[in-house]
Amino acid sequence: MSLDAATKPHDRLAEALAPDMQAVNALIRARMASEHAPRIPEVTAHLIEAGGKRLRPMLTLAAARLCGYDGPYHIHLAATVEFIHTATLLHDDVVDESAQRRGRPTANLLWDNQSSVLVGDYLFARSFQLMTETGSIRVLRILSDAAATIAEGEVLQLTAARDIATTEATYMKVIRGKTAALFSAATEVGGVIAGQDDTVVRALFDYGDALGIAFQIVDDLLDYVGTDATGKNIGDDFRERKLTLPVIKAIAHADDTERAFWSRTIGKGQQDDGDLDEALRLMARHGTIEATRIEAHDWIGRARAALAALPAHPLRDMLDDLADYVVARAV
Ligand code: IPE
Ligand code: IPE
Ligand code: MG
Ligand code: MG
Repeated sequence: MSLDAATKPHDRLAEALAPDMQAVNALIRARMASEHAPRIPEVTAHLIEAGGKRLRPMLTLAAARLCGYDGPYHIHLAATVEFIHTATLLHDDVVDESAQRRGRPTANLLWDNQSSVLVGDYLFARSFQLMTETGSIRVLRILSDAAATIAEGEVLQLTAARDIATTEATYMKVIRGKTAALFSAATEVGGVIAGQDDTVVRALFDYGDALGIAFQIVDDLLDYVGTDATGKNIGDDFRERKLTLPVIKAIAHADDTERAFWSRTIGKGQQDDGDLDEALRLMARHGTIEATRIEAHDWIGRARAALAALPAHPLRDMLDDLADYVVARAV
């Protein structure tokens, strides 16, 4: 598949949803400001104007539109979802001590941890204000459940880090929480606001869930095999001693010497120059990059299968293409 900018499924989706996305961006801009604390617009403008793929708000818009929704509230929901996402990124970069985000220095680096945490809280609060404007208790429940689940995923990851006994089951729990919960909430609320029946809403949830899981598996893969184009630092997960899927699989195949390597670098955090390369060699030896990619493909298959229960619509086809693209970006 060509990943030429003009043919990226993500860009086609953005084009199809352009008027809605403009309204979402205008709403985001209006609500990210604060008259009372100038630090807030400084930090939010830095992060929000750096762009980002706007994947999650597009999922909400696409879900609502393909269900025939023609009211105003999909815009509020899409902005809500992007605010929750941006708030988690501000917090995540503090927790991960990351230096780069969206191709820019992180807010924690440019300002400080305090600003990132507090402005992240502000964006969370703004997201709750936005969702109440829809008047739907059901979407409030879905999105507030998602916010709690994301935090649980991040905390579970924190306690699993550095533990080389971490299983694939724990990893799945972490990524379903920290990433897939927002993807599935994003698609689900689109169907709910459009007044769809349970079958359609469930299918939208399943699509978002599987897409989110595949997305995070690929994101973790890119931390080892990606390029600067991700806008993030490569090798951060190894340095932070995070147990992601290619590493968990490599540890499962390790002989005694390899186990000692993982125990020293990830378990004890004693890392020297060349250790990241050695980690990559061990993953290659056991084919764990490839095995991880196959797992991402499996989840994409599930995402695409879920779409079958949705009404035929050009946006449904675009969601289908988008699923493929999520894995293709790992090539
Ligand atoms: C980054 O998400 C956080 C993860 C779940 C891996 P995105 O890659 O969607 O971030 P932006 O919004 O495009 O920067
Ligand atoms: C992303 O997690 C943050 C959330 C999903 C809350 P990661 O820490 O794995 O993602 P990046 O690599 O910083 O974007
Ligand atoms: Mg991070
Ligand atoms: Mg993180």
